[in-house]
Amino acid sequence: MDLKGQVAILTGAAQGLGYAIAKAYVAEGMKLALMDNQADKLDAVVEELKALGGDCLSLPVDLSDADATQAAIDKALGHYGTPRVLIHNAALLRERSMREITLKDWQKEMNIIVQAGFQLCKAVWEPMIAAGGGSIMLLSSGSGVRGFVKEIAYTPGKHAIEGLMKSLALEGQEFNIAVNSVTPGAPINTPMSASNYTEEAKQRWVDPAVITEAFVFLAKQDASGVTGKRIAARVGTYEILEQTVR
Ligand SMILES: NC(=O)c1ccc[n+]([C@@H]2O[C@H](COP(=O)([O-])OP(=O)(O)OC[C@H]3O[C@@H](n4cnc5c(N)ncnc54)[C@H](O)[C@@H]3O)[C@@H](O)[C@H]2O)c1
Repeated sequence: MDLKGQVAILTGAAQGLGYAIAKAYVAEGMKLALMDNQADKLDAVVEELKALGGDCLSLPVDLSDADATQAAIDKALGHYGTPRVLIHNAALLRERSMREITLKDWQKEMNIIVQAGFQLCKAVWEPMIAAGGGSIMLLSSGSGVRGFVKEIAYTPGKHAIEGLMKSLALEGQEFNIAVNSVTPGAPINTPMSASNYTEEAKQRWVDPAVITEAFVFLAKQDASGVTGKRIAARVGTYEILEQTVR
């Protein structure tokens, strides 16, 4: 499939992996509706991508806020119509122990990861069905299958992302919608990593731009191809870690 002119909605595009994916998609000629709560940074990214010939829309939004999220999704759909691709990449990881975390902290991380993930999938579901298919990628993590200390919200959030992927992949088969989870398959140099990686991991980290091939590959999938899988985005390639559906 030629991705030129195809539309993607991508969250968390102001920096890190989301920024790298946006750049890779502009190189493919895709049109992008980009969301992030760092408005100035997102606007700067959109200007940079436009200078590279990209057709991009900046949608500053706090994805922990359901009403604001719905409004941003409506703007994206109103501007570009049905997307071929949805990537929910935005996430927040604040390391706090059970003794430190408050309900409000917990809800914020969960809402960015899970509630916004649901809302985004829900919003594109019917349009993708009407369009004959599409591809959804939900950003997961090692925290999607294992527990880590001080990840009282992030780990359950990423486990929920894996669950959402499995259920939607099953339901999406009938409608030709591919749904996969993606985890970085190499240590990546991003602001999130800068605050959470060990010094040893920082010795090995790579620019996230070198792991975007998996996202380009998955953008071309529908339910007749790769779906229902947990995928590692590796340097220049991808690996299916787990086949959870079919
Ligand atoms: N960095 C890693 O090693 C690593 C490992 C496993 C999984 N991941 C996942 O990969 C994805 C990208 O991670 P990253 O390292 O680029 O992180 P990052 O923190 O550098 O980027 C995340 C982006 O999400 C945005 N965001 C955060 N809260 C938001 C909110 N309330 N509303 C809207 N946008 C918000 C941030 O502004 C930022 O631009 C995340 O889903 C993360 O969980 C990263």
